[in-house]
Amino acid sequence: MNEFLNQLAFGWYPYFAITVMVVGSILRFDKDQYSWRSQSSQFLRRKQLSLGSNLFHMGVIVLFVGHLVGLLTPINVVDGLGIGHGFKQLAALVVGGIAGIAALIGATLLLHRRLVDPRIRQSSSFGDIAVLVLIWVQLVMGIGTTWWTMQHLDGEEMVRFMGWASGIIRFDPGAPALLSEVAIIYKLHIVLGLTLFLITPFTRLVHIWSAPIWFLLRPGYQIVRSLSPVRRPDYSRTKGPAGDGAPSFGGTAVTRAQAESGSSGA
Ligand code: HEM
Repeated sequence: MNEFLNQLAFGWYPYFAITVMVVGSILRFDKDQYSWRSQSSQFLRRKQLSLGSNLFHMGVIVLFVGHLVGLLTPINVVDGLGIGHGFKQLAALVVGGIAGIAALIGATLLLHRRLVDPRIRQSSSFGDIAVLVLIWVQLVMGIGTTWWTMQHLDGEEMVRFMGWASGIIRFDPGAPALLSEVAIIYKLHIVLGLTLFLITPFTRLVHIWSAPIWFLLRPGYQIVRSLSPVRRPDYSRTKGPAGDGAPSFGGTAVTRAQAESGSSGA
């Protein structure tokens, strides 16, 4: 690839895309919080939505964590842990490949649902459909890279991508040159990935920031509701567990049973 184009795509574009994503998302949150959602169409074709959405989200979450850990872990940490480059490459290929196929099946179901059902199509904006198409293409290209990856299972190409990603984070001007010789499918995949970052604040992708990750870390608790009548002696049916000694707001409390039997209540 021409040196200038390489510098543009893998030297400058990453900073531009990440800056627009972060600043754009903050501005959208500040200015237009009511539009901060993924515009649900849940009430239409529910079954296809739940299967497609579950497959898609599970696959994409695995890919997201895999890309993050795989590309951003410093290579000396990988070496220090005694993880061979070939092993890491194979693990990325197998785990990423399975997650990619699951996400692709999910994305295909979601796209089919949006395009084929006239009611869902009517309620979808251009952006809703365009984002799904771009993600679908990105998944196809990602899965496509696995064929090239299988040609160099020693992990050399993977080390190159890790070097580029960490170089971008360290503002190393030598980072883009690392990608100048890699196969075009990787280049297109990375440019489209960065473009997805870029359009995040302007599309439904913005809901990524609100992913309820805390939900996975919540302490385990279980809410148990009993159907049998409460037998605690201090329990008042009108004032709850505080019992009849609790202050009554709004006058005398009368239970339904008392009202029906004609007595005046507490
Ligand atoms: C800027 C963002 C992205 C970058 C830099 C990136 C980079 C890469 C690279 C370098 C590989 C090849 C890994 C290897 O074989 O060593 C890859 C594979 C893959 N990518 Fe991405 N990617 C990005 C975004 C995405 C997104 C948004 C998706 C899905 C929607 C995705 C899905 C995949 C899949 C399915 C594979 C093949 C399985 C695997 O090796 O993990 N990528 N990506």
